[in-house]
Formats: sequence, structure tokens, C-alpha cells
Amino acid sequence: MCYIGLNAVDPMKLTPSEAIRVRSFAGDYFVLCRRGILRESARQIARLGRFSSVHILSSSRVWRAVGRKVLRGIPPRRNVHIHLFDDAETAKTLATVEAVARKLVRAGADRKSLLIAVGGGVVGDVVGFVAASYLRGVALVQVPTTVVAQVDSAIGGKTGVNLPEGKNLVGAFYPPSLVLVDPEVLGTLPPREFRGGLAEVIKYGVISDSELFGFLERKMPAILARDNGALEQVIRRSIEIKGHVVSRDERESGLREILNYGHTFAHALEAATHYRQFQHGEAVAWGMICAALLGHETAETPANDVARIIAMVRQIGPLPKWPAVPAEKLFDLMRSDKKAKFGKVRFVLSPRLGRAKSYEGVTKKAAISVLRFGPQLILRSLKLPGNSDD
Ligand SMILES: NC(=O)c1ccc[n+]([C@@H]2O[C@H](COP(=O)([O-])OP(=O)(O)OC[C@H]3O[C@@H](n4cnc5c(N)ncnc54)[C@H](O)[C@@H]3O)[C@@H](O)[C@H]2O)c1
Ligand SMILES: [Zn+2]
Repeated sequence: MCYIGLNAVDPMKLTPSEAIRVRSFAGDYFVLCRRGILRESARQIARLGRFSSVHILSSSRVWRAVGRKVLRGIPPRRNVHIHLFDDAETAKTLATVEAVARKLVRAGADRKSLLIAVGGGVVGDVVGFVAASYLRGVALVQVPTTVVAQVDSAIGGKTGVNLPEGKNLVGAFYPPSLVLVDPEVLGTLPPREFRGGLAEVIKYGVISDSELFGFLERKMPAILARDNGALEQVIRRSIEIKGHVVSRDERESGLREILNYGHTFAHALEAATHYRQFQHGEAVAWGMICAALLGHETAETPANDVARIIAMVRQIGPLPKWPAVPAEKLFDLMRSDKKAKFGKVRFVLSPRLGRAKSYEGVTKKAAISVLRFGPQLILRSLKLPGNSDD
């Protein structure tokens, strides 16, 4: 196999915060994060070893936006192929995995080939799963092009696709050999995707780093204006946190659960609205507001932290309306979430900013009261700005 990640960086050139090492069962790998890193992709990839052919996999939308930048770093040669496929969430299916794998066969990809996934979480998840299963595993480099993909989905080795019955139900743990994070590619990201991705960044502050949280409180307006320095700083810190968590718990047997802060609620909101009303980050934003309120309800999160979390989330901008779905229905959706164990809903709450724990004993009553009296009402009574329903 082509896992040669360990010597993959030149330590003289990249600082430790630009070259984040992630531990994995299949071998350690690096996440390299720096503006312009894509210009030297060929050099970084060459450190992984020799490949019989290179297959860049992306979507036409992403490729239109960033293809030229990618090709500047990986000059097209005889054995460099480009394959495009639909990256709509509805196309994150086994049928797409099959179509991509067949493109690879037709292009002559063998066990010594390298796949490079260029795109958001959909491209990364599909190509990751193809890499895990094509000829029982070929080497993979992730080039994430959304905030979500850069700080979250490209790191940690979770790959997979949806079934009609639910999201991400078929997949594999399959770590990449290298992740190249170039914040420059975010320049073309639509505003809604960009803002939604920042919800995940806020999440890292809440669960793991009160300093990051404080930085976000001060700098969010600059980040929203896509200030390069501030943006790069929070992306790197988020990668460090995600890398640290998955290095300690790759298969989500414990610690990794804290990454689900806000997500139990978010998944229910997304499912209740058939994935049409919320961009994932927007659902996570609502989910974090709910988790903060639930922390208040259960007396786990100090009131001041609850207020700070809610105010922080509100800074990323107006969110789609809370849906008109009965609280009981949302609760049932949480219970059927694949992360519920033995039908018990587990909630990740923050006992104080910068820390998070998973709680199993939260009562249905407490959760329902958050869902019923509704973040919408509570936010109105808090008179916080920015609610699109105001
Ligand atoms: N594997 C994991 O650990 C993990 C973690 C989080 C999310 N996910 C998955 O990730 C997916 C969501 O990923 P996402 O939020 O990155 O969205 P996405 O992949 O759906 O991309 C969002 C949109 O932005 C476009 N786009 C991407 N990069 C662009 C760029 N640089 N310029 C212009 N347009 C660009 C895409 O074509 C798409 O239309 C979901 O399927 C989710 O399940 C996986
Ligand atoms: Zn998420």
C-alpha cells in the first residue's frame, strides 16, 4: 500500500500549527493547512510515494470554482485523470459510488493509483468510500473546499453514502494519506455555505477551547467578511481540535462523541424538514442553541455560558425559521437517530465553555420543554438580534 504519510512534510517549511499530525489505525497522516498550499501539492504528494496514475475526483461546480488552482499544483500529465460527478446531497448514493468506480476502471486505475478528492463533504465522503472499496483500498488525498470539509469531514476517516432510509448509513472508516487545506479556495464558496460552516467552528470553541470561543466572539465580523488572517487562524485551530479528538478516539467509542454537540437536535431538524430547509450548519446552529438551553434546563451549563453560546451562534446571521413540527415528533426523530444507543437519546452538553460531555440521563421532559417552548420563543424573550423570523 501507499501509506507513507510519516515523512510527508518538510518540518523546516511548515510550522506545527500548519502541519497537524493525525493518528490512525492505518498509519498517521498530516493535515497541511496554509494559504496557497495547493500550489505545492505535487511536491507534498510526491512525498507519499510513487503512484501508477492519479485520479482527481470532483464535481463540475467545484471544478469550475477551483480547478485551475488545483491544476497549478498538479500539472496535467498523461497519467493524471480528472473525473467529475454530481455532488448534490441527493447524489451521495451507492449508485454514484458505482458510477465513480466504473470511471476508474475505464481509466485504468489499479492498486497503485492515487485518488484525490477535491470538494466539499459530499465529494469527500463519496470518494473516501470509493477509495476504501475500489480494489479493496487505494490511496486517498483529500482537498477539502468548504469550511465544513476543511474543519470537519476531510479529517478523521469517516466515509460513506446515504440510503433512501437515512443519511450516511453505508460507509467505512478509511483514513486519507494526506489532507491539503487551502483557505484560498473558500473565496468562491456561496455565503450560506460559508456561514453554515462557521457553526462547526463555533462548536469546537464550545466543546474544547474557550480561547477559540473568545477569539470568535471578538473576530466573527471580520471572519464573516472573510478576513484572511482570522479565517485561517480559526480553521487551523479547528483542525487541531478535530485531529486531536479523532487521534484519541478514531471509531467513536467515547471522546469523539463530543463532536456531536448540537447535532442530536440538528439531525432531527434536518430529518423533520426532509433535508430541504436547512443547510447542515444552520441546523447545527439551531442545535447548539437547543443544547445550550438544555444545559440550562438541566443545570449543567452555567447561565452566563448559555447566553454566550446563544449570542455567538446568532452572530453567524439569520437562520431559517424553526419548523412547525411537534416537539414529540422531533424527540422521536432523535430517538431513532443512528447515534442513539438502545433507543436512549444521548445529549452532548457543555459543563462550561471549552468542555463537553455526553449525558445519557437527560429526561424526555427536559428535552421536550426545550423543543416545545421552543428556541424561537426563548430567543424572542432574550431580544437577541438577527432572527429571520422577527
Ligand atoms: N465524513 C465526515 O466526518 C463528515 C462530517 C461532516 C459532514 N459530512 C458530510 O458532508 C456533507 C456536507 O458537506 P459540505 O457542507 O462541505 O457541503 P457540500 O459538499 O454539499 O458542498 C456545498 C456546496 O458548495 C459547493 N462548493 C464546494 N466547494 C466550493 C467552492 N470552493 N466554491 C464554490 N462552491 C463550492 C458544492 O458544489 C455544493 O454545491 C454531508 O453529506 C455530510 O453528511 C461528513
Ligand atoms: Zn456537523
